[in-house]
Amino acid sequence: MKGVILAGGTGSRLYPLTKVTNKHLLPVYDKPMIYYPMQTLIDAGITEIMIVSGRGHAGHFLELLGSGIDFGVHFTYEIQETAGGIAQALGLAKDFADSDPVAVILGDNIFQDNVRTAVGSFKSGAMIFLKEVPDANRFGVAEINGKNIISIEEKPAVPKSNLAVAGLYIYDSRVFSIIRDLRPSGRGELEITDVNNEYIRLGEMSYSLLQGDWSDAGTFESLFRASELIRNVRLVNY
Ligand code: DAU
Repeated sequence: MKGVILAGGTGSRLYPLTKVTNKHLLPVYDKPMIYYPMQTLIDAGITEIMIVSGRGHAGHFLELLGSGIDFGVHFTYEIQETAGGIAQALGLAKDFADSDPVAVILGDNIFQDNVRTAVGSFKSGAMIFLKEVPDANRFGVAEINGKNIISIEEKPAVPKSNLAVAGLYIYDSRVFSIIRDLRPSGRGELEITDVNNEYIRLGEMSYSLLQGDWSDAGTFESLFRASELIRNVRLVNY
């Protein structure tokens, strides 16, 4: 399985922290933010990793992470010209994936779980990771019935559950034809939630419940919380 870290987008919710640097280079406690999703993929046993970033500060990712030799993996870099959505950014990894399944992680997501077992058990279709949260309206929200996912709604005003869809997704190679056929949402983006709902429609979506802590870091509050989380439980030990 290959890995993809999505580090594009504008970081507008963190302005002015993101005025002269990229969100994913900001500190989360004692490491640049992108180290954490990178380590989640590495801990899952993935060694071929593509980093998709926007134009601004793309060179800084290269300087920070290099070839991957320091981490025992190999990095490939790709540029998303404009922030056209998470699914659009993933679409840029088509040639890199080359028919292999991909584990896709958002560059602002911090996981405590080791997902090696889930990655190892993946066969086909798609898999998402869910976490009970008190503020589900900030996320994609899954409605489930036992082992089945009925639907996912992106940032619903009235969430049907408290199960947030975390920013880690595993897809088979069909994901790229699904992305090709997507239409932009109301906010003009190709939405990862639309990709996931297509796998649900096909009856090919499974899920795993996260046991450990999880946080995004894309707002002032969640960035602060992510730093606290790392300080308290020492998620990553270098
Ligand atoms: O954090 C989990 C949530 O992430 C999910 O529950 C939502 O379903 C999903 O849509 C996403 O919501 P956000 O509104 O938090 O996504 P955001 O726009 O903040 O983007 C998250 C990361 O995705 C960002 O750190 C980099 C990457 N991204 C985003 C966009 C819009 C890209 O690489 N390119 C993009 O164009």
